[in-house]
Amino acid sequence: MSHHTYQVKKKQFGVSRIVETDIPEADQLQEGEVLFSIERFSFTSNNITYAAVGYQVRYWEFFPVDDEWGVIPVWAFAKVEASASEHIRVGDVYYGYFPMSSHFISKVGTIKPHGFSEGHEHRQTLSPIYNFYTLTGNDPSIPRGNTDIQLVFRPLLTTSFLLDHFLSDHQYFDAQQIILTSASSKTAIALATFLKHRKTQEGISVRILGLTSQKNEAFVKRLGIYDEVLTYDEISSVPMQASTIVDFAGNAHLLNQVGDHLGTQLRKLSQVGMVQWQEKPEELKIEGEFFFAPAYIQMKFKEWTMEHYSQLLHSAWNVFLEQSEDWFDLQHIRGKEDIHSFYPKMLNGLAQPKDAYILSF
Ligand SMILES: NC(=O)c1ccc[n+]([C@@H]2O[C@H](COP(=O)([O-])OP(=O)(O)OC[C@H]3O[C@@H](n4cnc5c(N)ncnc54)[C@H](OP(=O)(O)O)[C@@H]3O)[C@@H](O)[C@H]2O)c1
Repeated sequence: MSHHTYQVKKKQFGVSRIVETDIPEADQLQEGEVLFSIERFSFTSNNITYAAVGYQVRYWEFFPVDDEWGVIPVWAFAKVEASASEHIRVGDVYYGYFPMSSHFISKVGTIKPHGFSEGHEHRQTLSPIYNFYTLTGNDPSIPRGNTDIQLVFRPLLTTSFLLDHFLSDHQYFDAQQIILTSASSKTAIALATFLKHRKTQEGISVRILGLTSQKNEAFVKRLGIYDEVLTYDEISSVPMQASTIVDFAGNAHLLNQVGDHLGTQLRKLSQVGMVQWQEKPEELKIEGEFFFAPAYIQMKFKEWTMEHYSQLLHSAWNVFLEQSEDWFDLQHIRGKEDIHSFYPKMLNGLAQPKDAYILSF
């Protein structure tokens, strides 16, 4: 059977190729292996960040190729084509972390009520969140409904949901305003939605300020979820109030400008993303703390039961879906040629923030 994988050069991930190989037939699977056909996967700047920090955060190790080439991980729905595991049924669809490929052979590890953990040796020291494959239709943390929306937003919204709890648990670090950079990113939008919801539900008096590029300013303003929207060349207009920055841009020059402007009014910098990975590196002059959702969720599981977590996340989804009916358009990219021409668009920040992309080989 023929199988396609999208590979990029790990040290120069603008260079890519599609590799076609054979994949084992059903009767060639080893005991415990499952052959997945990857039906569709989402692709946002989050996936580009996986490449940008591929060595530091070990993203290249999930689906290894060789020293030069790597595969960017994606969140996908995949159907079981063949199974040599008594626990996994042919035809079932799983959600999880897959390679940017048409197929994947997984090795079944621990079986859990809602899915299974990946058992390949090389995955065992990687973050457990990325090793779990969830049986779709069997997950209490997500409202039933449009699975394409779930595909795009699930990793991003879960991060925003955790960030919302992180900020609230710390009383917003005594800030009067929360500044979100790359305010047009889906993760920022979901966080702003949750912050706004808390403001109305709990009467919290923080302002939500979005910083964005000029080209995305009108889009972000139209969303109506930020109290104020400024562009990156309007930093001097950021109100002088006690502030917490939640950074999705990852641009040290920008953060230094905001830090210089706010001075002692800056209470906290939480570093979440780095969509502006192409910016010239600069030393960060302000102190920040990385927020890594997979690590934070492990920490919260000491406090939350799985059931409680599922209830909270389910409610967060409902809040998001109620507010998000019309600001994004689902876009489908099908076939290897179209994937190949789409990739540079996302890489170089040329995608429209309103577009939510779903790819399939
Ligand atoms: N730490 C964690 O655990 C965690 C978890 C989830 C996501 N994240 C991170 O959050 C960030 C946002 O991810 P997302 O998937 O939500 O993004 P997204 O929706 O694809 O973001 C699109 C926006 O990002 C900016 N952008 C994208 N590419 C750019 C480029 N090449 N140059 C300059 N600006 C660019 C633009 O925003 P503006 O014009 O508004 O700047 C653009 O509208 C990513 O870095 C992701 O890795 C982190």
